[in-house]
Amino acid sequence: MKPFEIKKDLYWVGVVDWNLRDFHGYSTEKGSTYNAYLLLGEKNILFDTVKVEFTKTLIDNIKAIIDPAKIDYIVVNHAEMDHTGALPAIIDLVKPEKILCTKACQDALIAHHHRSDWPFAIVKEGDTIQSGNRTVQFIGSAMIHWPDSMTSYLKEDKILISNDIFGQHWATSERYADQVEPGELLHQAAKYYANIFYPMSAAIRKFLEKLAKLNLEFDMLAPDHGLIWRKDIPAIIKQYGAWAGGEKKPKAVIVYDTMWGSTAAMAEHVVKGLAGDDVSVSVYDLRFSHRSDIMTDILDAGAIIIGSSLLNGGILPKMEDFLSYMAGLRPASKIGAAFGSFGWSDVIVKQLNEKLEAMKVKVVNPGVSVQYVPNNDIFARCEELGAVIRRELLSPSA
Ligand code: FEO
Repeated sequence: MKPFEIKKDLYWVGVVDWNLRDFHGYSTEKGSTYNAYLLLGEKNILFDTVKVEFTKTLIDNIKAIIDPAKIDYIVVNHAEMDHTGALPAIIDLVKPEKILCTKACQDALIAHHHRSDWPFAIVKEGDTIQSGNRTVQFIGSAMIHWPDSMTSYLKEDKILISNDIFGQHWATSERYADQVEPGELLHQAAKYYANIFYPMSAAIRKFLEKLAKLNLEFDMLAPDHGLIWRKDIPAIIKQYGAWAGGEKKPKAVIVYDTMWGSTAAMAEHVVKGLAGDDVSVSVYDLRFSHRSDIMTDILDAGAIIIGSSLLNGGILPKMEDFLSYMAGLRPASKIGAAFGSFGWSDVIVKQLNEKLEAMKVKVVNPGVSVQYVPNNDIFARCEELGAVIRRELLSPSA
């Protein structure tokens, strides 16, 4: 993708990674972008870089706009390698007067790239720099996504270069959010939140409160992944507030793995007791579904119900993988229950319930287990489990 001007003298110089399919365990079925921005003026400023394998593309994009040697400052909003893999080569080429970043980012950059000789200039919350009549204000966003993270606000242009927050992993030829299909855009933004930011929800609430207190106006939110928001910006900020606030729908997500079909059959009967016009249910067989798609669905669900057969005295490996992933993302304020099948040791529901409780999911039914193959009595208990979840989801306190 060629660079282009998003505002007078402010250029997108990033890259589109059409082929990214895995972002450390998050399935990026539509690729991603690593957005970098170049501001021309009295001081020429590059905001962020890209993954190391796209270094040449970034350099070519910069060269299409300006001689890289004329860049004065590099702002590093966040040290993670998707934004700094190309940084050493860019610094060698540009020889910048200053590398502006937080102290935590300096520490992280040295730990990544082992170059303490770089011309670091530490910025703190609210610090500003000037480029002619343009002001860049640094707004801290610690833990969004790492301790070092910050954002850069171009005051006169009302543009927030937001790094990870407000991003999506979605490779497109379009660069603005209003140019793409809105349902898919919201899905990709939700998937990003669920799989990257879920455990950082408290930091996101704090950041959104800070933006509100600062009373900033936004003409654009320009993240480092995916599309730039320039229309109806309050809507995406409000949506982030809802996700960070744990806003839930009367919705349950059932996730299971099955050995010989018993647990799968039980899942169908949980659905029978649970689903209706007023409660939405999604069902995922882990043999066919990716953990990160399931987490996206869990983001605004009130209930998580898990099922597994017992294998060698433990939970099936795909379910162990899913539970480990979900535990790391720390979904908050959910209710849940468990079901499953066993051969000669009736411990599967106990093990699954312990996993749910360790994640602070409120287990609202003791669960249903069956030896080998369920009969109609077991199916009736599965339907009752579904009905309990349904009542809880619809109760006024849910
Ligand atoms: Fe896109 Fe936390 O890096």
